[in-house]
Amino acid sequence: MVFLKTEEEIELLRESNRILGMTLAEVAKAIRPGVTTKQLDKIAHDFILDNGAIPSCLGYEGFPATLCTSVNEQIVHGIPSDKVVLKDGDIITIDTCVLKNGFHGDSAYTFPVGEVSQEVMRLLRTTKQCLYNGIEQAIVGKRLGDVSFAIQSNAEKAGFSVVRDFVGHGIGREMHESPEVPNYGRRGNGIVLKRGMVIAIEPMIALGKNNVIFEEDGWSNHTADRKPAAHYELSVAINKGKADVLSTFEYIKEVLGDRYI
Ligand code: MF3
Ligand code: CO
Repeated sequence: MVFLKTEEEIELLRESNRILGMTLAEVAKAIRPGVTTKQLDKIAHDFILDNGAIPSCLGYEGFPATLCTSVNEQIVHGIPSDKVVLKDGDIITIDTCVLKNGFHGDSAYTFPVGEVSQEVMRLLRTTKQCLYNGIEQAIVGKRLGDVSFAIQSNAEKAGFSVVRDFVGHGIGREMHESPEVPNYGRRGNGIVLKRGMVIAIEPMIALGKNNVIFEEDGWSNHTADRKPAAHYELSVAINKGKADVLSTFEYIKEVLGDRYI
């Protein structure tokens, strides 16, 4: 069952996502060679609490941290650790959710650490563009397959592959609601999008092949060929003519300045 949100509920979702956007920016300030993913996790945890919200990944189905920190070939749900030290040339995806006033915000961003190769920068740019192409289709009257197709076609046109083991999702009072939002699919397939639907669109794109290996900790995963993967996520409300993007990269943009892509 897909829940339609009222205007008031959409404003609450926007507020949760605003705090989340600021949290990702706070983490962005600390991303550099030598920092551990555990240190990044503490920054996010404290910042979310200081802003009157709850880090809702922490404890979600037993997930042990505030942030999902996925480095290089890791795709999603990496667990922060004091043993994972970032180095020049890495990429790191920071993905998290915050809960405020009963509604979840959900957003993710892949950051380069120091200087990253041209090919990996192209992966990051392409994945972000996949997200924006998906959002362009997230309007009243389109179908879910139009969103999925827009993402898949942009990724494959660039020579990259769509990871199929994870999907976007509806979001609201629950972190994961119906419908599932795959990053691959056909135009004109799937449910018709209606005003008031809120979905988290989150392309996960691999530089090489999309086969996934699940790690021993029960959460982390990586590409089988160990080539890097990127992931950008924004929560959006379906609207007429233009999606209402509830999450924001604006605070990240302020932090990164001319390094923002
Ligand atoms: N943004 C992630 C998602 O959409 C959040 C996962 S939280 C975790 O699934 F606790 F499951 F890691
Ligand atoms: Co999500």
